[in-house]
Formats: sequence, C-alpha cells, structure tokens
Amino acid sequence: MSETQKLLMLPGPTNVPPRVMRAMLKPLIGHRGPEFKELFNKLLSKTKKVFETKGDMFILTSSGTGATEAALQNITDDGDKIIVNVNGFFSERLGEAIKAYGGKPVILGSEWGKAPRVEDFEKIVKANPDAKALAVVYNETSTGVTVRALERLGEMCAEHDMLLMVDAISILGGDKLPVDDWNVDMCVTASQKCLMTPPGLAFISVSDKAWTKIKSKKINRSYYLDLQMYQKYIQDGYTPFTPAVTLLYALNEACDMILEEGLPARYERHRICAEAVYNGMEAMGLGLYAEKESRSHTVAAVNSPMGMDEGKVRELIRTKYGIDFGGSLGKAKGKMFRVGIMGNVGSADIMTTVGAIGSATSELGFKAKVDEGLEAARETLSRLPGKVN
Ligand SMILES: Cc1ncc(COP(=O)(O)O)c(C=O)c1O
Repeated sequence: MSETQKLLMLPGPTNVPPRVMRAMLKPLIGHRGPEFKELFNKLLSKTKKVFETKGDMFILTSSGTGATEAALQNITDDGDKIIVNVNGFFSERLGEAIKAYGGKPVILGSEWGKAPRVEDFEKIVKANPDAKALAVVYNETSTGVTVRALERLGEMCAEHDMLLMVDAISILGGDKLPVDDWNVDMCVTASQKCLMTPPGLAFISVSDKAWTKIKSKKINRSYYLDLQMYQKYIQDGYTPFTPAVTLLYALNEACDMILEEGLPARYERHRICAEAVYNGMEAMGLGLYAEKESRSHTVAAVNSPMGMDEGKVRELIRTKYGIDFGGSLGKAKGKMFRVGIMGNVGSADIMTTVGAIGSATSELGFKAKVDEGLEAARETLSRLPGKVN
C-alpha cells in the first residue's frame, strides 16, 4: 500500500493534522495510574467546552454508533415511544437502533434531501405526548441535510417533558451546537469527523434531566454501555474498561487546536468552505442533492451529472488526483457523491476538490464549466479570514 498521503474529503474519517498525529507517538501509560487520571480529567473539561455543556461527558472506546447505543440503552424501557426524524440512511439506522433496545420508534418521515419542518415536529410531538424522547439526526450525512430547527426542538422537548437525544456524529465541532443552551439532553458524536482525530472514540453528553430517566429505568441491556458504571469510575478519573489511550493523546491535541481557533471561527470556516463547494458546483453546472435551506456545512452532496454513475466519478478522482469522496447510500445509490468538509479543511483542500470534480466529470463527457466553478469557489473562499490551513 502506498504511503502517499491522500486528501480525505470523505464524510469521515477526515484528514488528521500532523500535530494531532504526532501526539500519538508519546509512550503509553497505564489507564489506572495518576498520569491517565490527569489526562482524562483534562479531556473531559476540554470536550465539555467543545460541546458547550456543564453536564456530564463520557468518552467511549467505540465508533459513533457505540455512543448512540449508549444513549438509547440507558434511557429506553420496553415499549417506550421515541419520536425520530427519518430522512436518510443514518436516521433510518437510528430508528432501527431504538427498536433494538426495546423502544417503539414513532417515525417522522421526510423526503431524502429535505429536513422536516418545525410544524411537522410540533404536530408529531402533540400527537404523542407520552413519548419519552425525541431523537434527531442533526446532520443527515447520507444526504448532506441539517435540521436547522434544532434549537426550537430543544425548547419543545423542555415544554413537553421529553428528552432530546441528538446524533451529531457528522457535525459536532463543525457547526453550531451549544448543548446546554439548546436543551439537548444527550448529544453523541465520534472522533473521526469534525474533531479531526482518528476513528475509535465516541462521545456522549448527559443532562440532569436525562439522568433522572436513566436512574429510573428498569432494564439494563448492556454491560459495556452502562452509563451508571461509567459515572462511578469517572468520579475517580477513570473508565470502567480499557480506553484507547493513544487516541486520547490525539484527542487532547485536537481539542487544543479547536479551542485555540475558537468555536465561532471554526463554524464560520466550515460554513464558508461548504459554500465554496456549493457555489463552485453550481457555477460548473452540477446539481446539488439537498434543498437549499437545509444544506449542511460539513457534508456536500453533489449530483452526478447526466446520469453518470457516481462511482465512476469518484474512482477517477481517487486514482488520478488522490482525493477520496464518499459514495451514495440507500435510496440515493449511484446518483450522487458526498464531499466531507470537516475538521482542518481550508482553501487549498476546497480548490483542489472543486478542480478535481470539474476535470473528472469533463473527462467522463460532461461539459463542466471548470473555470467558472473555480472562480466561484475562489471568490467564496476569499471571505475566509486570515490563515486557513
Ligand atoms: C449521522 C451519522 N450517524 C451515525 C453514524 C455511524 O457512525 P460510526 O460509523 O462512527 O459508528 C454516522 C457515520 O458516518 C453518521 O454520519
């Protein structure tokens, strides 16, 4: 396998900055000793800043789904109704996971490429006042759609004494999500996306309101994902099971980078980079999959032109230009590809991406207006303040 660094414009995993990679070279430490305790306590405090929460934070050794399962297993009793928006592959999975833990998903479906409206949420919440929680995929990675009404959903859940559980796996750290201010009771994410850390860590924040439900729950269906056990260990600065210490070194460095940049600046950089992709694609003559008002700032879904198999476009770009994009999933299979705009992304990555898409689609027979696309992307990126990479 080649050791040449690829440009990962995937919707996860993303490019890990050299500073974060280097942090993993530190010697290992035992996870029951004082050095670990110091590191772990620092990490809890830094990740809470990134989540903007004063609630509890748990760092699990698993992919993002581990944190989703932790949230569901800890709040669900048999037959508990949980309302869930389904508008793509990952929200479909969330509905399935609710069932796996004995819950009864009440599905608010909407078209792929669109987000449900506040009124739709209001209607379903009103019709199901006995629902225990509302589960929302904030950023549907399979379609590049963000539920922009999340803040209002938090108010709604507070009014209805319902928990709000948010899958923020492909957005936290790349777009606004003040967990406490928006009344999010359980927020889950993963290391390999906007947190620009290698895959293997998952995160879950827990509010006081969520704890009340966790403590009153009758059934415990998992030993590994029992948050009450994590809570006991965390009080002494440890985890109940062996943590991925090397990844925690990386996370520590990544959190420093995130906090040095500052959350508002980071969100603005993601927004401008995403807009540059959208504007570049449209100027080039390519279509976008997501409706305009819900377009994600961390994943851009680009329609493959002239019914071209999107797999061919990606394969050409991968082999010729060394850039990886995400393919299409489920219902969108073959129709579009996905560009991840996550983590350390900046002008150079975006211009390279836009240029490669223009060149590859042209080579495959589409009359891409490459110059116009690059100009639109360049013009949009000129709004980025100062240093970008
Ligand atoms: C919104 C969303 N939810 C869940 C997942 C699953 O995460 P993981 O593969 O880290 O378990 C993903 C992965 O891309 C995702 O984007």
